[in-house]
Amino acid sequence: MTQPRHYDLNHTSIWAKLHQHQRATRHMHMRELFAADPQRFQRFSLSLGPLLMDYSKHRITERTLELLFELADAAHLKDWRQRMRAGEAINVSEKRAVLHMALRGQAGDDFQVDGQPVMAQVLAVRARMAAFAEQVRSGAWLGFDGRPIRAVVNLGIGGSDLGPLLACRALRPYAAAQLDMRFVANLDGQHLAQALEGLEPATTLFIVASKSFTTPETLMNAEAARAWLLAAAPAEAVARHFVAISSQTERVRAFGIDPANMFEFWDWVGGRYSVWSAIGLSVMLSIGPAAFEDFLAGARRMDAHFLEAPFAQNIPVILALLGVWYNTFYRAHTHAIMPYDQGLARLPAYLQQLDMESNGKRVGRYGETLDFDTGPVIWGEVGVNSQHAFFQLLHQGTRLVPCDFIVPMRSHYPLDRHHEALVANCFAQTEALMRGKTEAEVLGELAGLDGDTLDMLLPQKLFPGNQPSTTLALDAITPHTLGMLLAMYEHKVFVQGVIWGINSFDQWGVEYGKQLARQIQPELADASAALAHDASTNALIAHYRARKAQ
Ligand code: F6P
Repeated sequence: MTQPRHYDLNHTSIWAKLHQHQRATRHMHMRELFAADPQRFQRFSLSLGPLLMDYSKHRITERTLELLFELADAAHLKDWRQRMRAGEAINVSEKRAVLHMALRGQAGDDFQVDGQPVMAQVLAVRARMAAFAEQVRSGAWLGFDGRPIRAVVNLGIGGSDLGPLLACRALRPYAAAQLDMRFVANLDGQHLAQALEGLEPATTLFIVASKSFTTPETLMNAEAARAWLLAAAPAEAVARHFVAISSQTERVRAFGIDPANMFEFWDWVGGRYSVWSAIGLSVMLSIGPAAFEDFLAGARRMDAHFLEAPFAQNIPVILALLGVWYNTFYRAHTHAIMPYDQGLARLPAYLQQLDMESNGKRVGRYGETLDFDTGPVIWGEVGVNSQHAFFQLLHQGTRLVPCDFIVPMRSHYPLDRHHEALVANCFAQTEALMRGKTEAEVLGELAGLDGDTLDMLLPQKLFPGNQPSTTLALDAITPHTLGMLLAMYEHKVFVQGVIWGINSFDQWGVEYGKQLARQIQPELADASAALAHDASTNALIAHYRARKAQ
């Protein structure tokens, strides 16, 4: 493959053609597109087993997609996809392979890093996790006073928290009832203190989840948790109550956790792509090894689809290209995620890290400045709560906000008519956002009014519509479909990174604040330390020093 060593896609004819196409079609209304084409849903929807993606409610025609596929070809998407699969060091700034797909691989798969097969080590760790999970779940793993484990507290942040937390909440219907799963990420002491409320040291297991094992938030929480345990237990209890997940054996040992109780993963797995690895131990403890295998199998199914399906039938590719269409060519700055499933309430937060830490970059993989918009602001909230919070802006605000609606067709908790009402709300929102409400329709509703009252109310009751959305309908939220969904978003982010020329797998932007915090913390403690920050930061530090003791 011959590729330039700098980004130049934005100077090619396909980029210009997409801009022209956007200008030529931007006044088109989706309501008219639907009216003109009874086959629009069939034309713009795809299924993969239990997942249906409806992307007909977008400001696109077949020509738009043709051009976007051309853009993907011009960005050498197929090559990049193959390079990722082949274990090439496509994380160029850290010289690392990107092989989260291997984590959901199975025996016989030929994933390699630096020419070395990796499946044997992946499967060995998975087997150790399963053996450990079985022991804890069956009650055979005993705490220091001989009682079985009743609560598991995962201590981790970012990718070492969000994925396992999301999966444990989403898959609660599959969870072992006897295990109380808790998650602590924040450095704010109240998070740990509240998570420990009601727990007994003798029946609590801590998982210290940190790829680097240097993340101060996690290590501080782990030290505090160890002190909490040791206030009630002898020193040797740490071995029964602490396990670690990391790629850093020596640091785990130095912390005092026996490496025999460590579950390894590797530097070719990014934190935000790691729920499939040992980082998923809490998920496996909760739902059991067999269901965890289903979770991996769902992701594997999406991997195969992503690697093999032609672009025109490829769910993550289309999702990604639609995002590029709005983000880069419409200059829509944000993208909203609305799961209509209470178990998926943390999906927006999970996708914030996955997407914004991956593609929130203004410099391309070769160090060149990119002069177009890249990764969007990801935000969202569970439906229907979101309808009562920010949907006003989506319906009648001034911004273009592409939305993803994620909804299961069957609920694990259907109650009486709850689920049907939930699904009705989801579908209704996509319809309202697309159609809008015309002047004639509003006039019909306001029959009887005239004069100033009508002039005042009519524009306020209009809905412009034309607000794009994708509906992702899953048969039910199961380990398998959750695996498919998360892998789908991983590949979407990868494709967008390729189109924008970004290395989606490093995160230099989170380092600077950490560096300054290390400098400021001792300055908060020592009132005599000289301050050499800007006037605002100096004053804030002084304010803290003055007020902390009051
Ligand atoms: O936020 C920066 C980051 O490095 C994330 O990429 C990562 O998921 C998180 O911190 C936690 O890192 P670790 O697992 O090494 O503690």
